[in-house]
Amino acid sequence: MITGIPQHIAIMMDGNGRWGKQKGLTRSQGHFAGSKTMENIIMDSLDIGINVLTLYAFSSENWKRPQKEVQYLMDLPAKFFKEKLPEFMEKNIRICVSGDIEKLPMHTKSAVQSAVKATENNDSLVVNFALNYGGRNEIIFAVKAIIGDIKESKLKINNINEELIDGFLYTSGLPDPDIIIRTGGEKRISNFLLWQSSKSELWFTDTYFPDFNKELLLQAINEVQERKSYQARL
Ligand code: FPP
Repeated sequence: MITGIPQHIAIMMDGNGRWGKQKGLTRSQGHFAGSKTMENIIMDSLDIGINVLTLYAFSSENWKRPQKEVQYLMDLPAKFFKEKLPEFMEKNIRICVSGDIEKLPMHTKSAVQSAVKATENNDSLVVNFALNYGGRNEIIFAVKAIIGDIKESKLKINNINEELIDGFLYTSGLPDPDIIIRTGGEKRISNFLLWQSSKSELWFTDTYFPDFNKELLLQAINEVQERKSYQARL
């Protein structure tokens, strides 16, 4: 039984490539299967009553992958939003993006920006896509913006606090994640939500992302609830 639904769950969708290989398919076919799982998990999150779902779709390190794979991943958002946007509108889902989207190819950037714009007034689940996202880059970007504001006398050094820094991050306005899930067996944070994860519970599974499902999502939520009630009893 779930008591106290987490506000924000973030998922590192790892293991698509290995899933493809295991099935005798290409890595890109693994990403396609991952994108289908992602669609299910978005709807499951809405059913469960989660407010924010952050999905690590492309890290700032992923550019080092074979060009064909990068191109496939850059083509996915346009296809995905073309197909899914009507349903997102119907279900009142809002799309957000976290990351340096200026460096995305034009067709990727415009697909994402149009989805963000079209859904900006929706107020059920927020789906935040981390795209060309790197936690350290995000902090550098925030530091530069803060220094810029100090130089222009819009901000005083004494006013720098946690809330102010929150407001300079890509995730500005979103609550910190309660749970960070990583699929695919690795147990690292890999430059994901470095500032925002300060109090997050981490949950790992060996399951490759294309095989991730609602049952595992509920298992993660339940286990974290158990950890919290154990901590409260100490
Ligand atoms: C990590 O698995 C996964 C990615 C780099 C991409 C994840 C992207 C999706 C699930 C779809 C995104 C779709 C949209 C519309 C934004 P991996 O390739 O590192 O797997 P491996 O560890 O087995 O190599």
